[in-house]
Amino acid sequence: MINIGVIVGSTRPGRKAPDVANWVLDIAGMRGDAAFELVDIADFNLPLLDEPVPPSMGQYSQPHTRTWAAKIAEFDGFVFVTPEYNHATSGALKNAIDFLYKEWNHKSAGFVGYGSVGGARAIENLRLVMGELMVADVRAQVMLSLFTDWENMKTFNPAERQVDAVDAMLDQVVQWAHALKTIRPELPPVAAEVAPPQGRRVGGSA
Ligand SMILES: Cc1cc2nc3c(=O)[nH]c(=O)nc-3n(C[C@H](O)[C@H](O)[C@H](O)COP(=O)(O)O)c2cc1C
Repeated sequence: MINIGVIVGSTRPGRKAPDVANWVLDIAGMRGDAAFELVDIADFNLPLLDEPVPPSMGQYSQPHTRTWAAKIAEFDGFVFVTPEYNHATSGALKNAIDFLYKEWNHKSAGFVGYGSVGGARAIENLRLVMGELMVADVRAQVMLSLFTDWENMKTFNPAERQVDAVDAMLDQVVQWAHALKTIRPELPPVAAEVAPPQGRRVGGSA
């Protein structure tokens, strides 16, 4: 079974990200081609990157890094739910991404962005980052508008066509997750002191 992590890319009080991520999970739960789990970076209490050695060296010294690494290692692909902050992704999501390296490599990723122009610039920003992490980011993407997919910018009520956009993106993420699994080396298990938090899960047998 393919495992896909749906990453909640905002941590601020009053954030819109959980509504969006849970909606993605609702749609994913109707598919049956993979297991999907919500991964809320806020649950991992990551400080600003505090690892003395670059993550690409794989020498994680901090308990919070190992807990985060153990969670990300569980997945074959990702959906990044990203707000747009100053024409980029959120600092919190970029920081969470920067903590790890091998756990991201040779996996697939799709994006659900939101903002005044559908979070397009945040998604483009993340695509640059994915290349360095050897993550295969798919073409199909979901762009939610603060003006038309929320009522009064407060209540999430996405347009019907956005459901098709989510499914098109998930089709590609799952397909590439299968392909990349065949070339990905088995990683040694991460010695996390505590079991990483488990988010809401849909699909699959687990
Ligand atoms: C620091 C900051 C910068 C922002 N910059 C942009 C921006 O450049 N473009 C945009 O479309 N929206 C921008 N917004 C609006 C956010 O997209 C909107 O507030 C969204 O709800 C943020 O996601 P969140 O609620 O999950 O944190 C910004 C919001 C914040 C807090």
